Amino acid sequence: AMESGVARIPITNWEAYEEELKERIGIDQKLMTRITIQAKKDPQTVVFTEADHYKILKAAQSVQEQRIAKPILLGDRKTINAIIEEHNLDLSDCQIIDPYEEDDKREEFAQLLYKQRQRKGLTLSDSRRLLRDRNYFGSMMLQTGEADALISGLTRDYSKTILPALQVIGVEKGINKVAGMYIILNKKEPYFFADTTVNVNPTADELVDIIGLTARAVRFFDTEPRIAMLSYSNFGSVQGDIPSKAAEAVRKAKQRYPELLLDGEMQANTALNRDLLREVYPFSELADKGANTLIFPTLTSGNIAYKVLQEIGGAEVIGPVLMGMGKPVHILQLGSSIREIINMVSIAVVDAQNHYKRTL
Ligand code: ACO
Repeated sequence: AMESGVARIPITNWEAYEEELKERIGIDQKLMTRITIQAKKDPQTVVFTEADHYKILKAAQSVQEQRIAKPILLGDRKTINAIIEEHNLDLSDCQIIDPYEEDDKREEFAQLLYKQRQRKGLTLSDSRRLLRDRNYFGSMMLQTGEADALISGLTRDYSKTILPALQVIGVEKGINKVAGMYIILNKKEPYFFADTTVNVNPTADELVDIIGLTARAVRFFDTEPRIAMLSYSNFGSVQGDIPSKAAEAVRKAKQRYPELLLDGEMQANTALNRDLLREVYPFSELADKGANTLIFPTLTSGNIAYKVLQEIGGAEVIGPVLMGMGKPVHILQLGSSIREIINMVSIAVVDAQNHYKRTL
């Protein structure tokens, strides 16, 4: 009864209303608008591994209508068709793939995965079993070039969703660790937070990787990164594991990426408050403009910070943008809204466009 009650609300109007409200309170939409325009220039094939879910189908319809992406819907065909009918969706142009109907394809993928991971403890029967999981099936579609990008994670825990992608797709050439970034949009300029989703307790060297990945991703969004490596201390004011790890990461990152505007370790308010920087730490490279990119010393701090902002900070957050994967995989935050899913699809499409260029 709840479901059909929800379905009767004219959701498109609500979205327009939400949009208008956001315009009025001044949240900067320029960044997402640019990405959407770029996506529409060359829509890519995006496989949705959780297509038997209303929000995914609604988002798929929207990106298809707007010509942002060409969705492939992965899931139980009966369930997908029932949702389409119940909500009167138009997805007639989208390909629906039910892995359970695809015995030959599943076997082909199982053999490929087995070949890829037979020396990592995977037996052929393990591999066949894994291919019944749509995250493995979808990842194999991406790996074999049957799709350009993958969107998952709406209904399952992040760590359970990312693992198949890490095992099947793995990292991009030259990258050690993947990491997740959030874009924070508010009245001022956009801010970028990382790592907010993957590495629980990164080492100093892993932080250097995360700094490099994040700088590249911020540029992907047409913004020049001004990076602060965060801690609970300012420039050696406190001794401890986190302060010294963060300071070491800055030293090493400056060697590896000498062109980057980067400083730390510092507290979050120091990073974001130019007056404080100028007054107390005028020697800092960030003293001129302050930071727009925050690198967190642990997953705990990064994940909690963005979630607090999202719930009570009056900011719109976009992400997580997964950085450093071998192919464009983006994993939604559990329970994302339709609007958040559409944003992630646009980002995945532009990611795929660039990826294609890189591999030419
Ligand atoms: N970057 C690249 N590859 C990785 C990474 C990483 N950060 N971590 C693991 N891998 C690879 C490994 O190299 C390995 O590859 P291989 O099997 O081909 O050799 C594979 O992934 C599996 O490695 P494991 O060591 O078995 O995996 P692990 O137990 O480390 O799990 C995971 C990895 C799932 C990412 C784990 O670190 C994790 O749970 N992180 C936290 C995720 C999370 O809960 N985030 C918070 C919520 S997110 C949100 O709020 C939206």
